[in-house]
Amino acid sequence: MKILIVYATTEGQTRKVARFMAEVLEKAGHHAKIADATDEPPEPTDFDAVMIGGSVHLGKYQRSVKHYIISHVAELNQLPSAFFSVCMAVASGLEEELQEAEDILSHFLKDTGWNPKATTHVAGALKYTQYNYFVKLLMRMIARKQGGATDTSKDHEYTDWDAVKSFVLNFVGSSA
Ligand SMILES: Cc1cc2nc3c(=O)[nH]c(=O)nc-3n(C[C@H](O)[C@H](O)[C@H](O)COP(=O)(O)O)c2cc1C
Repeated sequence: MKILIVYATTEGQTRKVARFMAEVLEKAGHHAKIADATDEPPEPTDFDAVMIGGSVHLGKYQRSVKHYIISHVAELNQLPSAFFSVCMAVASGLEEELQEAEDILSHFLKDTGWNPKATTHVAGALKYTQYNYFVKLLMRMIARKQGGATDTSKDHEYTDWDAVKSFVLNFVGSSA
């Protein structure tokens, strides 16, 4: 199958997830094309299936990914499609955080009118080395509350790569 992966990222983790997904697909014998949502991604109609991802910042996904989805919603709803949401809330394992992540995702889909066949939450990363002073303080405070890492001298990755791989293979398996 020919699969398009469109992503938006702020600190780079969603790009890393998208690249990993493409590798998984290529190894499984598919052809994967990755595109940054800010960089004029191709039309969905040139592909057999589309996967789209963004990351959550203060309860919202990037405008670029929303724009791409809204601009192509009719085509996306005709194709097998999947949405992957990268955030920190799901890494906490706390019920109220999981619910919040789910609410953010479902409100976003409702807003765009897109009905992907599959959705998943991917635990992201705390990129302390990239944050400015204030963001570092904010993220350390949130991490403390959620039981995440508070050592701001380095980055901390929470992505479960096996779970990402299973999601991708299940999606293409059921879309073939
Ligand atoms: C300023 C800021 C705000 C964030 N807000 C949220 C949030 O509201 N909910 C959440 O679950 N994660 C939040 N995160 C965590 C990011 O979703 C996480 O770091 C993710 O890996 C970022 O992905 P990216 O590198 O692709 O942008 C926030 C991170 C930053 C830096």
